[in-house]
Amino acid sequence: MFLKNLFTLWHFAIFIAILINQSLGFEDLIKRDVSLDRNNVPKNILVTSIVGGSHLPYILEICKILQDRGYNITLISPGNYTAQSIYYHSIPQVIFENDYIGLDRKSSEVNKAFLEDDYEKTFAQVRKIAVQSYVPFYNIYTKVAEEINADLFVCDCLMNYPCFDLAWKLGKPAVGIATGFGLSIPPPSYMSDPMHGCHANMENESFYNRFRCEILVPLKLAWKVRSTIKGLNAQRAIVDVEPHYNMFGRTSNTLILSNSFYGFEIPHANSPLHQEIGPVLSDTFPSLTPALDSFLTNHPRTVYFALGTIVFISPQNVITLLESFLELIKQDVIDGVIWSTVKTDPSDSLQLANSSAQISSILNNNHPHIHVSKYSPQYAILSHENTKVFLSHGGASSSHESMYTATPMLVLPIMGDQPVNAEKLELAGIALRISKWNLNVNDIVSKVKRLLNEESFKKNAKRLQFLAKVNSKRKYRAADLIEIVMNTVKMGFIRGKYLDVYAIAIILFLVLCGVFGYALWKIARYTYIRFSEDRISRKHLKRKGD
Ligand SMILES: *[C@@H]1O[C@H](CO)[C@@H](O)[C@H](O)[C@H]1NC(C)=O
Ligand SMILES: *[C@@H]1O[C@H](CO)[C@@H](O)[C@H](O)[C@H]1NC(C)=O
Ligand SMILES: *[C@@H]1O[C@H](CO)[C@@H](O)[C@H](O)[C@H]1NC(C)=O
Ligand SMILES: *[C@@H]1O[C@H](CO)[C@@H](O)[C@H](O)[C@H]1NC(C)=O
Repeated sequence: MFLKNLFTLWHFAIFIAILINQSLGFEDLIKRDVSLDRNNVPKNILVTSIVGGSHLPYILEICKILQDRGYNITLISPGNYTAQSIYYHSIPQVIFENDYIGLDRKSSEVNKAFLEDDYEKTFAQVRKIAVQSYVPFYNIYTKVAEEINADLFVCDCLMNYPCFDLAWKLGKPAVGIATGFGLSIPPPSYMSDPMHGCHANMENESFYNRFRCEILVPLKLAWKVRSTIKGLNAQRAIVDVEPHYNMFGRTSNTLILSNSFYGFEIPHANSPLHQEIGPVLSDTFPSLTPALDSFLTNHPRTVYFALGTIVFISPQNVITLLESFLELIKQDVIDGVIWSTVKTDPSDSLQLANSSAQISSILNNNHPHIHVSKYSPQYAILSHENTKVFLSHGGASSSHESMYTATPMLVLPIMGDQPVNAEKLELAGIALRISKWNLNVNDIVSKVKRLLNEESFKKNAKRLQFLAKVNSKRKYRAADLIEIVMNTVKMGFIRGKYLDVYAIAIILFLVLCGVFGYALWKIARYTYIRFSEDRISRKHLKRKGD
C-alpha cells in the first residue's frame, strides 16, 4: 500500500517537473529559418503556348510569382498579350503568331466546324493545326531558348508538342500547365467527356454506356489520332527529334499542373506528377464602370450574359436568347440583363431580326432593362450582389470566377472543355445547362426561374465559394512546385521507372515458372512411369494368375 502511494507520488512529481520545465522552456524558442537561398538556382524560364489567349492568364499569374522570386521569365505566344495587359506587362513576350489557328477569323476552318456543330470535324481541324504548327514553333522555341539560355520550360499543354520535345532534347526540365488533366494524361475510367457522347461522371451509367465509353470510344479515338501521330513524327523528323507515339506528347515523366479543384472537378486519385493548383485567380480585378454600377444598383435581379472570347454562336441562337430575356423581364422574373459582347458581333443578328423592332432596340442599347456593353469587368459584375445568374459558355476561368463569387450559372457550352465543365457545374449543384442544338425560350425561362427560386443553388454556390477561396492560394504552391522541379536532380529513366526492379521481378518469375514447370513435368513423368509399371506388373500378375 505504502509502495503504491509512493509510486503515485513519484509520478506526480515527474508531472510537476515536466510542467515547470515546459513553462520555463517557452522563453528560449528560436524561430525556424524559412528564407530560401536562391543564389545558386538556375533562373531562366521559357514559357510557351501555341494558342495564347485564354490559356495565358493563369499561367502568367504563376509566372509573376516566380518573377517576384527572382526568376527571369520569357513568354512565347501568339497575340500581343503581356504588353497590353495591366497585370503581366512586366513579363517580356516574343510574339509569334500561329498562322494556322485564326480563331478570330470567321472564315477559318475551325470556326466553320464550330458553327456547323461538328465536334469530329473541329477536332480533326485542331489535330491538323497541331501538326502544321509543330515545326515553326519548335524553331522559334529553339532560337529563344538559346538566346536566353533557358533552364526550365513551362508548357501550356494544348497541342504544345514542340515544348516538351525541345525540353527533352536539351535535357532540361519541363512543367506542363493545363486546365484539366484530360489534356495531359488519360483520366480514370469513370470520368469521360460529353464530346464523345459520354458524360463527365459515368458513375450511374448503364453497362452498355460504360462499355462504349471505356472500350469503344478510346479505340475509335486511337484509330483517329494515329494519322496525327504519324504526321507529328514526320514533323519531328524535319527538326531531328526522335519519333514518339504517345498522343499526349513527351509528358510521361513531367510534372503537370492542373488549374482545377475538387468540388468542381470529379474526385480521382492523382500521381505525384499530376497536381491540382487551381483555381488560379488574380488578386485584383478591374472595377465597375459608372454606367454598369448604376445599372446594377437599379436592377436588383440582373442576369449577366457573356460568352468567351473565342466562341461563336449562331445569330439565330442570339435571337432566341434575347427573346428569352424579354420574356423573363415581361414575367418579372428578372429586371435586368447585362450583355457583354466582347467578341460577339451583333450585326448578323441584327440582320436576322429585321422583323422585331424590340430586338433592334436592344442591339442599339435603347432598352431600359438590357445593357449591352463591349467592355465588361466580369469579376466586378459577378461580385455585385444584384447579379443573380450568370449565363455563360462555361469556360474554365468564367466557371472559376462564378464559383468564387457564389453566382449560380446557366451554361450554354459551345466547344472544347465547355460541355464537360457544364456537366460538372450541374453535378456540383451550382448550375443548369441549356443546349445550343435545341435552344428554346420556354426552357430558358423555366431554368432561370429554378436558379432564382430553388434554395439548393444558393447553398451549393456558397459551398463551392468556400472551396474556391481556400484553393485559390495554391498558385503559390504551383510556383513552389516549379521551383522544386528546377532544383531536383533528374532521376534516370531506368531508376525512375523502376524498370530494373521490374526486369528482375520478371526474370525471377520466369525462373520460378521454369522450376515449377520442370518439377511438374518430373512428377508427371514419374507418375506415368509408375502407373505404366503398375499396369505392366498387374498384367504380369494377371498372367501369372491365369
Ligand atoms: C535575368 O535578366 C536580367 C535582366 O534581363 C539579367 O541582367 C540577368 O543576368 C538575367 N539572369 C540570368 C541568370 O541570366
Ligand atoms: C503591343 O502592344 C503595345 C502596347 O499597346 C505596343 O506598344 C506594341 O507596339 C505592340 N506590339 C506589336 C508587335 O504590335
Ligand atoms: C449516382 O447515384 C447516387 C445515388 O442515387 C447519387 O448519390 C449520385 O450523386 C449519382 N451520381 C451522379 C454522377 O449522378
Ligand atoms: C429578314 O429579312 C430577310 C430578307 O430581307 C428574310 O429572308 C428573313 O426571313 C427576315 N427575317 C425575319 C426574322 O423575319
